[in-house]
Amino acid sequence: MIIAIDGPAASGKGTVARALAAHFRLPHLDTGLLYRAVGAEVLARGLDFSDVPAVARLAASLEVAGLDAEALRTGPVGEAASRVAAIPEVRQALIELQRSFAGQPGGAVLDGRDIGTVIAPEAEVKIFVTATPEARAARRYAELSARGEDVTPQSVLDDIIKRDQRDSSRSAAPLIQAADAVLIDNTALDKAASIARALEIVARRTGAV
Ligand code: DC
Repeated sequence: MIIAIDGPAASGKGTVARALAAHFRLPHLDTGLLYRAVGAEVLARGLDFSDVPAVARLAASLEVAGLDAEALRTGPVGEAASRVAAIPEVRQALIELQRSFAGQPGGAVLDGRDIGTVIAPEAEVKIFVTATPEARAARRYAELSARGEDVTPQSVLDDIIKRDQRDSSRSAAPLIQAADAVLIDNTALDKAASIARALEIVARRTGAV
């Protein structure tokens, strides 16, 4: 069974994806980490984001094993990820890796922006997780300030709105709800309720409980 979870920044899609993967004992790939790793490398090497061949080469040589999820979850790396993710050559370089993860025997859970539309359009279950920008910014602010990042509620909201705009308006695989995806708007739901809703969707689509 392939489960595709898409949604904007800080929507809680990762939480839902991890919970479904644990529940159904499926491997899970947070595809945002791939773009974050490329973005972090661009920053670390001081490359120009407009140097497409150099940025695409970084994407093509990315090793998934050993990605440090914690170190990649900072605000500046999220912004860099969104910038490299708008480059078609970067997306192309990361497609095969994601498709082969999705296609492994027994299936997998993947979360990102284009899983249900581009990476695994054949997925049995597609869920689009979202919430208002204000609700998502409040969650992201709590997370980043707890880690000691120098942010304000307003700077985090501005950043979320900017990333939504870039991720949704790019021409290569923009963030969009697949026609056959089921929506979870968790603006007024806590984590447990979002996960319960996702489990109901899987059960309804596939019979798996
Ligand atoms: O989900 P996230 O915040 O970790 O993602 C970081 C950026 O990577 C996001 O702004 C857009 C991009 N991304 C993408 O374009 N496609 C994906 N499948 C996953 C992430």
